[in-house]
Amino acid sequence: MTVTTTTTPVVQGVNLVKTFGRVVALDGTNFELYPGEVLAVVGDNGAGKSTLIKCFSGAHAPDAGEMFVNGEQVEFKSTNEARRHGVETVFQTLAVSPALDIASNLYLGREVRKPGFVGKVFRTMDKKRMRTESAAHLKNLGISTLQNITQTVETLSGGQRQAVAVARAAAFGSQVIILDEPTAALGVNESARVLKMIQDLRDRGLSVILISHNMPQVFEVADRIHVARLGKRAAVVTPQTHSMNDVVAIMTGAMTVPEEEQQLTPTR
Ligand SMILES: Nc1ncnc2c1ncn2[C@@H]1O[C@H](COP(=O)(O)OP(=O)(O)O)[C@@H](O)[C@H]1O
Ligand SMILES: [Mg+2]
Repeated sequence: MTVTTTTTPVVQGVNLVKTFGRVVALDGTNFELYPGEVLAVVGDNGAGKSTLIKCFSGAHAPDAGEMFVNGEQVEFKSTNEARRHGVETVFQTLAVSPALDIASNLYLGREVRKPGFVGKVFRTMDKKRMRTESAAHLKNLGISTLQNITQTVETLSGGQRQAVAVARAAAFGSQVIILDEPTAALGVNESARVLKMIQDLRDRGLSVILISHNMPQVFEVADRIHVARLGKRAAVVTPQTHSMNDVVAIMTGAMTVPEEEQQLTPTR
């Protein structure tokens, strides 16, 4: 008897096409994110990275192709619908409210009640309890950069704000966190903390899609690297099998990788 174990991708895209007028942003691209991994998405400007993740976050509907979450076919008509499937996106423009404190930000704009952390407390709005739960949630996520839950977000550093946005995304029964250039505006120390947070999320079983231009950071945290080029997936490689120069070469089309040398299945 042959026993084959296959892991179902937590998020999958098959032959996704998206055009804007005459511009082909996605040209039949494939995508797989597996449970408990950090998948970096890299590519030159205009390669279709943002368009790709906007399909999964519910911001765009693809013109053609299929999307699956945990093997179930989905069509997202809104970001809320993606959220209900456990897919949360932290866009570059962080959706935080500067004048509110950390705890309030974690509860911001959540109309859907879910079991667990949020369902229990949302709108019962017992501030004290909200703060206690928020602190516990941050501790659970291993986020130690936010010490004082009653601090307003406007008094936080860029990295701490990023932590609030990520904590919020990770709060709501989510299984997938999509991060678009999370360290682009951060200094070295703050970037390091955000990278640590990404690894902690992964270690807690979440799956992370990390869009980044920063090759050293990608090589530090990614389990696998999806290289986008001209609206397609040029290759999926790993930091163990390919160098930063290789990845740049794949991005520009100077190098191609035969399928058998790619890492199309999970590494963990
Ligand atoms: N809303 C839009 N309207 C028109 N063209 C767009 C829109 N969004 C993206 N594009 C175009 O689609 C292509 C892919 O863009 P994008 O997904 O943003 O690439 P990346 O994030 O990799 O830089 C680019 O040529 C871009 O100009
Ligand atoms: Mg982009």
